[in-house]
Amino acid sequence: MKITICIGSSCHLKGSRQIVEELQRLVKENQLEDKVELAGQFCMGNCQNGVCVTLDGDTFSLTPETTRAFFEKDVLPRL
Ligand code: FES
Repeated sequence: MKITICIGSSCHLKGSRQIVEELQRLVKENQLEDKVELAGQFCMGNCQNGVCVTLDGDTFSLTPETTRAFFEKDVLPRL
């Protein structure tokens, strides 16, 4: 599974770096390094809904605070 996080400037300002770090931590914590691939991508053209994150073609709007809930609700069940 591939999770792509927008690292364009608008999403960066809204905390995409913290989201990447949080996801890296969660992947490690759950020992999913060989199942989940994290990738960065520049502006996805949807800045007003940033931070934009895509997962298997679905787009999500995250903040650093909602990242853990996203991981538990949307990432883990799909594995
Ligand atoms: S910077 Fe993330 S959608 Fe534009």
